[in-house]
Amino acid sequence: MCGDLRETPGKSLYCRNLIITVTRSFESEDRALAPLGSWNAEILQSRWKEVVEQVDGVLRDAIDCLGSQCPERLKQAISYSLLAPGKRLRPLLCVFACEAAGGTAQQALANAAALEMIHCYSLIHDDLPAMDDDHLRRGRPTCHIQFDEATAILAGDALQPLAFETILKSTLSAPQLLESSLVLARAAGSQGMVAGQMDDLLAESLDPSQMPIQDQKEWLSSIHRRKTGAMIEASVLLGAIAAGATPTGATSNCRSALATYGRGIGIAFQIVDDLLDVESTSEKTGKATGKDAARGKLTFPGIYGIIESRAMAVRWVADALAALEPFDERAEGLRQVAKYILERHS
Ligand code: IPE
Ligand code: IPE
Ligand code: MG
Ligand code: MG
Ligand code: MG
Repeated sequence: MCGDLRETPGKSLYCRNLIITVTRSFESEDRALAPLGSWNAEILQSRWKEVVEQVDGVLRDAIDCLGSQCPERLKQAISYSLLAPGKRLRPLLCVFACEAAGGTAQQALANAAALEMIHCYSLIHDDLPAMDDDHLRRGRPTCHIQFDEATAILAGDALQPLAFETILKSTLSAPQLLESSLVLARAAGSQGMVAGQMDDLLAESLDPSQMPIQDQKEWLSSIHRRKTGAMIEASVLLGAIAAGATPTGATSNCRSALATYGRGIGIAFQIVDDLLDVESTSEKTGKATGKDAARGKLTFPGIYGIIESRAMAVRWVADALAALEPFDERAEGLRQVAKYILERHS
């Protein structure tokens, strides 16, 4: 994951931080959350690296297959953003959920890559001047800074159908392909991630004196559930679908427990993202920090304060872990990721 960056002068800092992020550090002890315990780097780190390598292989193949009709500049922009050193959390969740539901990593790989494509498009567009107007992403200039705005928009556009093509070309059964596509489309679209993004932007012009605090809290939860939670829940579900879990019948309990887990960690993930914007640095996160309040974003620390926000993230993760209780050791990866989410630094 970091080999590319080492060849890029001036970018090694983020590369090192990314490794630190998935290595338990002393700093993480500060945040250790006694009732839940810390994540175990020995269990998680090597599996994470393996999954990143496998998923990046599928992403590279997809880029190689873009064909001669794809203009070179578009291909470069897609490749620049898609292969940038992100955490690949959604693919990891997809693979781990597939394993927890009795499947193999191999079965989940196409769905995992598709999730990363949609996620990557959402980041490219999220960074555009008309949205969050950010210049740094994954330790590198954002797509529109490296290329130009129109190219970044088009790279994001191209990643969306590429995600569905990747699912539909996979070796899953026809019902699995259809369901994976449907779940992903709903999570990404106008009732899911895009809906949350719209309200996230509308909330920037909220005048707090015009909205009761309870309504602000409800709006905030609903933004985070959709803009981030929906794709994270879908990541887990696409893993379950790849393993053959269905909404009805013998595997339905497994599937609904995994969905509950996904919802819990999804909201916790965005609460922690809000906290990192306040508490961390761009050297650690690979993206701008301290911007949410300046832009008037509706965030957890903005509404609840840092301590209560962290406590809420812990409660959501505790709920997610409780949903995994009926699972055996094959869900250990998911348990570890849940704890990691609370302690992450990027
Ligand atoms: C960033 O997601 C955008 C949010 C939903 C908060 P990640 O923190 O997973 O970003 P990458 O993929 O590691 O860059
Ligand atoms: C964006 O949330 C979530 C997406 C759907 C991309 P943020 O705007 O908080 O994500 P960052 O902080 O820029 O990564
Ligand atoms: Mg945003
Ligand atoms: Mg943003
Ligand atoms: Mg953020």
